[in-house]
Amino acid sequence: MEFAEQIKSAVDIVRVVGEYVRLKRSGAGPRYVGLCPFHTEKTGSFSVHSTHQFYKCFGCGAGGDVIKFVMEIERLTFWEALKYLAERHGIPLPKRTDLADAEARQRGGIFEMHDIAVKVFTDALFSSAGADARDYLKRRGLSKNSAEEFGLGLSDRGGQTLVRLFEKQGFAPDDMEASGLVLRRTDGSGFYDRFRGRLMFPIHSESGKVIGFGGRALGEGEEPKYLNSSETAIYRKSHVLYNLNRARKAIQEAGFSILVEGYMDVIGVYAAGVTNVVATCGTALTPFQVRSLRRHATELVLNFDPDTAGANATEKYIPVLLEEGMKLRILQLTGGLDPDEYIKEHGAAAYQDALRKAGGYFHWLADRARSRVDRNTPDGTVAIWQTLLPTIQKMPDKIMRLAVVDDLAEYMKMEKSVVLQEVRRSVSGRATQGVKRQEARPDPNEVLLLHALLDSPEARVEIVPVLRQPSVLQRFAARQIFEAVLRMVDAGETPTYSGIEARLTEPEKERLAALVFADDTLSQAFTVEQAVACIRTLAIGEREARRDDLRRRIKELERAGDLAGALHLMEELNEMRRD
Ligand code: UTP
Ligand code: MN
Repeated sequence: MEFAEQIKSAVDIVRVVGEYVRLKRSGAGPRYVGLCPFHTEKTGSFSVHSTHQFYKCFGCGAGGDVIKFVMEIERLTFWEALKYLAERHGIPLPKRTDLADAEARQRGGIFEMHDIAVKVFTDALFSSAGADARDYLKRRGLSKNSAEEFGLGLSDRGGQTLVRLFEKQGFAPDDMEASGLVLRRTDGSGFYDRFRGRLMFPIHSESGKVIGFGGRALGEGEEPKYLNSSETAIYRKSHVLYNLNRARKAIQEAGFSILVEGYMDVIGVYAAGVTNVVATCGTALTPFQVRSLRRHATELVLNFDPDTAGANATEKYIPVLLEEGMKLRILQLTGGLDPDEYIKEHGAAAYQDALRKAGGYFHWLADRARSRVDRNTPDGTVAIWQTLLPTIQKMPDKIMRLAVVDDLAEYMKMEKSVVLQEVRRSVSGRATQGVKRQEARPDPNEVLLLHALLDSPEARVEIVPVLRQPSVLQRFAARQIFEAVLRMVDAGETPTYSGIEARLTEPEKERLAALVFADDTLSQAFTVEQAVACIRTLAIGEREARRDDLRRRIKELERAGDLAGALHLMEELNEMRRD
């Protein structure tokens, strides 16, 4: 645990989260806000607190410290997250990492084997054995620079290189098999390399660790053209995007990402200076992948091959993207060229120009529908609308939907009111979207007190004794939070956000986050005097309230003829006056 604390104090959560989520500082305060990476939302409920070093989503409830964030976003175990943060911040790891459980140990081994494989493959590409492969790259116009940047390599034809190396380094057979880099012979007589004689494309996790490979055949007509890593403990195809590790910053800066079909397209586009480009790794696009793009930018340009397969995929992905709330444009390059070929033929500037001019997806859909039917007949027009309506229905945003209708009606030269009526009719059946959870409005006195307790030892000395007075805490909406503070003080600890949080139940954790994120003006410029005045108000107010309550009950008892009871309470009332 100590090591975890050391990591937390050395690492800034705003910077770590900022690598995955586009964060904006809210005013001059300690709060940073962005779109939650753990659920789909249109307005940012996801907040990061720079002083108290935690994150909280007021939409889906996700929250925690920097270690939890890394665990969740990178799908790592606790130890892996510590290791990851330690390595990136130059903090030496304690020797006791063997404390990690068996699963984490195996995953560690798989990561290591991938690192070894990358080295072996790249060495081979640039050795004499790689002459043919280098020729191939040259023919395809892929520079040495690009090859190095993307870590391209070559797997050996013999099929024994990795096996021998892994065995020599003492990896257990089970771990070797679990890596997916080697396969067990069906007769059980040993292993052979999965990738043989292929051009190797390493696939990275978002943070830049190698987690898999795509291997392209070098011979014409060799099948399959691409062989991809199987799913392993570190590689989930449905979550990964090729090149996101390099592209994410550029995506944040550009405000949009470009999705292309293939590894070669990514490299071609990237080399043309357009670096916000990614691809799936030989799978259909999933909502997970869309979300990982959406964390960085809500706009996307889809630039698939102009063949039938590419067009079909485009049509299929439009609803997937819209459902995740993405703004979408389609880039269809002319001359039947894929992005890589287009850039080779027309140059980077032409590609960038085409990218700027890429149109809205509904234009693309309308064009596609029009090419299928005769729009000069009324039936044709209806048919076009029928193909477009389902997509319009998928749009989560009403304003956006209306804008599209407007635009489409004009584009198709149709009467707007007619179109609108059609759309209204088809959309009205839709279930309404869930409402965002309200952020509870905390009491400003409590907000100020909590910050005083967290931030100021002088204020703490004044406040804590008052908090301990009988029945003071009962007045607090966030009573359990302040009780947790008292317990920390009792244990001789300095109250911290994470310390308090660890002592709370789930709903109270929510309340704590809401309290700490409440009004920045309260959390920043308070004086000890203010804090003390604040607790006095609360404490004295409490006494007043109790007196009123006693007087009321005395009256009731008198009315009911219970004089003994009334007298008893009067005594209590007198006691209070004496304090
Ligand atoms: P492409 O055939 O368009 O490949 O498939 P490419 O990347 O453009 O490569 P070149 O230019 O032909 O050399 C697009 C993507 O589909 C997946 C790969 O991810 C590839 O990059 N794919 C393709 C496979 O997974 N397996 C295959 O057999 C073919
Ligand atoms: Mn291609």
